[in-house]
Amino acid sequence: MLIRIPDILTPAQVIQARQILDKAEWIDGRVTAGHQSVQAKDNRQIAEGSPAWRELGELILKALGQNPLFLSAALPLHVFPPLLNSYSGGQSFGTHVDNAIRQLPGSPHRIRTDISATLFLAEPDEYDGGELSIEDTYGLHRIKLPAGHMVLYPATSLHHVTPVTRGARICSFFWIQSMVRDDGQRSILFDLDLAIQRLGRDLPEQPAAKQTAVELTGVYHNLLRQWSEV
Ligand code: NI
Repeated sequence: MLIRIPDILTPAQVIQARQILDKAEWIDGRVTAGHQSVQAKDNRQIAEGSPAWRELGELILKALGQNPLFLSAALPLHVFPPLLNSYSGGQSFGTHVDNAIRQLPGSPHRIRTDISATLFLAEPDEYDGGELSIEDTYGLHRIKLPAGHMVLYPATSLHHVTPVTRGARICSFFWIQSMVRDDGQRSILFDLDLAIQRLGRDLPEQPAAKQTAVELTGVYHNLLRQWSEV
């Protein structure tokens, strides 16, 4: 499931994030690449453990925790502390798959990367190129979203970032270990959740609709009980 989630950050939060990043120190992005992707990757990142990384991580994690669409689509168990990258001057990231397991920085714990996330922090007209291109069974998806918007996609997908030929593409990227590991099962739960919410919104006062919503909510939770690991 590939899903675009608008307005993770408000315009004011995007400005705040960009001000922090303008003053921060950028390092070679290959530090977090795996054996295969190190050859494909060419960008800059904010160092893990730096004050800017900490401040922006807190801002983004708090925003994610308050976003109903993110919580419903991802069913997060663990969220990797967000990383930040920048592509400019022709930089790109060739086709790769993200590492399956990642060590949490400064901790003995690891997470399984079920879902990959990219949160855009630059407006599309600030740069040329820099599309996140994701391959799935439906073809190639080229993603370039307004600042503050995010895309979630299965971490199993091959993907690349096209060369940035003007300006700078600034994003946050991270991974989610979901309570529901299987992308197909997670999609079913998401569809069901959206349908239940729509029922409550469109037919708020009808007793039959209320009863149906209660029953479908029961089905939702019973599927979640079957499929989740917590
Ligand atoms: Ni990647």
